[in-house]
Amino acid sequence: MRISLDESIHQLQNGQVVGIPTETVYGLAASIHHQKAIQEIFRLKGRPSNNPLIIHVSHIKDVFSFVQETIPDLDLLARDFWPGPMTLVLPIKTNLIPNIVRADLPTAAFRIPSHAMTLKVLSSTGPLVMPSANLSGRPSSTQAAHVENDFGRDFPVLDGGSCNQGLESTILIYNHHQWEIIRQGAIIADRFESTLGYKPLIQDSASDKPLCPGQMYKHYAPLAKLIPVYSFENITKGVVIGFSDRSYPKGCHLISLGNLSNPEEIAANFYHALRLLDQEGHSEAMVDMNFPNIGLFNTLQQRFSKILHSVNH
Ligand code: TXA
Ligand code: MG
Repeated sequence: MRISLDESIHQLQNGQVVGIPTETVYGLAASIHHQKAIQEIFRLKGRPSNNPLIIHVSHIKDVFSFVQETIPDLDLLARDFWPGPMTLVLPIKTNLIPNIVRADLPTAAFRIPSHAMTLKVLSSTGPLVMPSANLSGRPSSTQAAHVENDFGRDFPVLDGGSCNQGLESTILIYNHHQWEIIRQGAIIADRFESTLGYKPLIQDSASDKPLCPGQMYKHYAPLAKLIPVYSFENITKGVVIGFSDRSYPKGCHLISLGNLSNPEEIAANFYHALRLLDQEGHSEAMVDMNFPNIGLFNTLQQRFSKILHSVNH
């Protein structure tokens, strides 16, 4: 159910959970001051309690008010990438942030989103915790209709249109005296180089105890089974998640991610395409994996491999 900006603010201030747009994906928002609403987020998503939430704020001073110590280059990263699709995991004054938000960790994740509506909401409500607005393990939401699809037609959503980035924020942590990427996202690793003087290392999420707890879990997966095809000449018939500038044989039903020359378009379409598979009732689809492994395609590759290697999939 679509609700207005004022109604969203009102409901959040009254301890309700509301679907909120951001430039990356839609979030399920609750005020950091309403413990019951935060519990409700975990219940609604079916999210394990050891998977912490990102705290969204409208101004850098809000981040500094929670942080325990100064971290090298935090100010530079904030200057260059906030508001925007970057999340920073920082050591915090633990008494200021409820355990449930940070899954008992001595750190918390922070982001200043750039979507104009989100900033308006945040400036009235103060800090909001917000995981992506999807059932745990399933594709994220990039439209208000996706949120209603997962949480019901009566679930309150602020409609901010289609998310222009379409992939989640890039998450960094300061570890061993340097910044490292613990979740690839809408900002590619190379872009941090001019700010930091080095390209942040991308942490392997395959370990048992990744620095980003969420990466332990099944993620982003549609109900349909995805079959990776690395050489697109091998695609002969059936449902294909592929690219609009490639011609597939006549017997194929293409669900297009967009044009290979436009990775931003592909990122923006990614979750909608995965959701279409289930909406159209397909039980399986081939994925044309024949794309370059650079820039945003690298994030895309990571998202696909997370789905393909999911347990229970
Ligand atoms: O773009 C985004 O980041 C979106 C929008 C709504 O802002 N949010 C999002 O939230 O993707 P979520 O909950 O789906 O993913 C947050 C990730 C999880 O994998 C979680 O484990 C990690 O951030 N995280 C949160 N707090 C952390 C912490 N203290 N240390 C390490 N990882 C943390
Ligand atoms: Mg998520």
